[in-house]
Amino acid sequence: MSGRWRLWLASVLGMVVVAAGLLAFEGRTATRPWEDGYLPNPLLTTQHGERIRFHDLIRGRAVAVNTFFTVCTDVCPLGTAKLLELQRQLGERVGRDIVFLSISVDPAHDTPAAMHAYAAQYGAGPGWYFLTGQEAEVAQLVRRLGLGSIGPTSPRDAHTSTLRVGHELSGQWMKTSSTDNPLYVAETVRTFLGWPRTDAAPDYRQARALQITSGEYLFRNGCAACHSIGEGDRLGPDLRDVGQRRDRAWLERFVSAPDAMLDAGDPVAQALLARYKGVRMPNLGLAPDEVREILGYIEARSARLGGRAHAGGH
Ligand code: HEC
Repeated sequence: MSGRWRLWLASVLGMVVVAAGLLAFEGRTATRPWEDGYLPNPLLTTQHGERIRFHDLIRGRAVAVNTFFTVCTDVCPLGTAKLLELQRQLGERVGRDIVFLSISVDPAHDTPAAMHAYAAQYGAGPGWYFLTGQEAEVAQLVRRLGLGSIGPTSPRDAHTSTLRVGHELSGQWMKTSSTDNPLYVAETVRTFLGWPRTDAAPDYRQARALQITSGEYLFRNGCAACHSIGEGDRLGPDLRDVGQRRDRAWLERFVSAPDAMLDAGDPVAQALLARYKGVRMPNLGLAPDEVREILGYIEARSARLGGRAHAGGH
């Protein structure tokens, strides 16, 4: 009797296992654009020094992945600043429903300690992992994720500002940009992952005609993640009345190429970097007339606020 019972139980269990297997298989083949095994599974190290495999990081949840390196002087600081805003926008879902992964494209130099300091400088919250690993393996992962190709000669120049958003369970992946407007990226991510909005979605009928100058547009897009005009310091100094504390030629040179001024030993640039905890003002590759338009906007905005600011750097 007990033998038959055991046999029955075994066959029921067997059927359950086969059915579950088939279901899982169905789900996979139906929707996965990338075959299983397409994404490599390198052993990575986080900014906390934990060692973890890539698949264990992404399993069963949504991820937003970008590349960076800690001493980047071009676009990465802007990407990191905007991801910070995206993290604020997505709120408590970050760490629970989605994790941010910033993979270093300079794994030889980006030690856990260097990445930890970088994350702290920006104030990156929980649920955001900065990752490094063995160079060739990281390069393969970055390439497969469509985040650029790291060449053997210049690992740093080849990274992109792409943000790759994916959901391991459904196997769906999409591309957006880490330097786009974080409000827009947050909305894209919510829609892609099918998250209901918590507040009422804005109605297009409430939209007003866009009346902004190109200086304001450039400022919002390239500077506002780190600077305010009259609302206090963010990652960088409040720029209200900056034209009164710095001369015009210095401002133009600094906004065009802050990295070159640091390298040339400019004392003001060095003092600013020290004062802002090592967060770097990025070189955004702006054309001279774009720089002038932005400075014109900052000046006009400061004038509208009136008087001299009390806050601001010296
Ligand atoms: C990733 C953040 C970030 C972005 C983006 C950024 N900045 Fe900065 N900026 C800083 C930081 C940090 C400092 C101070 C430390 C330093 O100079 O590295 C700074 C310093 C400055 C200063 C000097 C302020 C002073 O008190 O003398 C000016 C001017 C400035 N930025 C303008 C801009 C403009 C214009 C843009 C957009 C084109 C911009 N920044 C984009 C972070 C940023």
